[in-house]
Amino acid sequence: MTNTLTLTRPDDWHVHLRDGDALAAVVPHTAAQFARAIVMPNLKPPVTTTAQALAYGERILAALPIGSDFQPLMTLYLTDQTPADEISRAHEAGVVAVKLYPAGATTNSSAGVTDLRHTRAALEAMQRAGMPLLVHGEVTDPDIDLFDREAVFIDKHLVPLRKDFPELKIVFEHITTREAAQYVAQAGAHTAATITSHHLLFNRNALFLGGMRPHYYCLPVLKRELHRQALLNAVGSGSDRFFLGTDSAPHATHLKEHASGCAGCYTALSAMELYAQAFDSINALDKLEGFASFHGPDFYGLPRNTGKVTLKREAWTLPEELPLGQAGIKPLCGGETLAWQLAVD
Ligand code: NCD
Ligand code: ZN
Repeated sequence: MTNTLTLTRPDDWHVHLRDGDALAAVVPHTAAQFARAIVMPNLKPPVTTTAQALAYGERILAALPIGSDFQPLMTLYLTDQTPADEISRAHEAGVVAVKLYPAGATTNSSAGVTDLRHTRAALEAMQRAGMPLLVHGEVTDPDIDLFDREAVFIDKHLVPLRKDFPELKIVFEHITTREAAQYVAQAGAHTAATITSHHLLFNRNALFLGGMRPHYYCLPVLKRELHRQALLNAVGSGSDRFFLGTDSAPHATHLKEHASGCAGCYTALSAMELYAQAFDSINALDKLEGFASFHGPDFYGLPRNTGKVTLKREAWTLPEELPLGQAGIKPLCGGETLAWQLAVD
């Protein structure tokens, strides 16, 4: 049995850090686990310009614990109006990627894209620049069952998008279904996917076990067991098309435990521990380093990290609740004992 696992320092290719007091509360957790992270732009108002992305990056750096060398990788929020020259400006300024939220798909997505045809000029500029498009892949049509929205998105939007922009780098974010895993595995070298720890560890029963459990509610919503198994197979295959993206999405406790609770699981505090648990469950700990530390930078065309981290099989109990500014936040699996613990060398 493996009890100690040393890995190249990992990165998180999809995280929500928010702003203000919430940013100050959560960024130390991500910075303790990861060398870099792709920071989602769904703030209020959204990060739609290069100037906003650079200013947000500065606020993240200012909120880091002293001595941290964590590097935020900034993204732009795509809208129907994003001009091609904003993409070029962003690329030249070091903004790493652009996020597509279908309007209304998830938290703070109301300014998102209503019709992909409106984004042609921006997508052409991204394809030319080699800038990845990060896709929240769910249709928003209220007639489509919530659990089918990702699979329908593939046929309705992703396949045509791939045909129109054959060289565009696309990351299908936080995939949750067998259909998505199969699509990405055969879509060619310009398509990849991130997978969260919670979609590897839980199926949709977790939402209802013993009563409604709002801390397990995220978008895309947890799916059936067969889909979880397909995601485990994808990461267990060692394919470089799949890499780590926590989708850690902090929401205050009172907004999760609410009649209309917010979508998002908070996993930043124990991200690598949760992934280790998932990989361990299928005897694939030897595949964790590729998934967490190599496949992401290779796809984005960024250098791999050089430092190391160590995961030890050492039980510890996650706190039930932490401060989030004036409010509190409950991490996923709070109060539970985890088998692995991360130490940064
Ligand atoms: C995210 C958030 O809260 O910003 N929520 C979530 O359930 N994952 C948005 C997102 O990534 O969909
Ligand atoms: Zn997200």
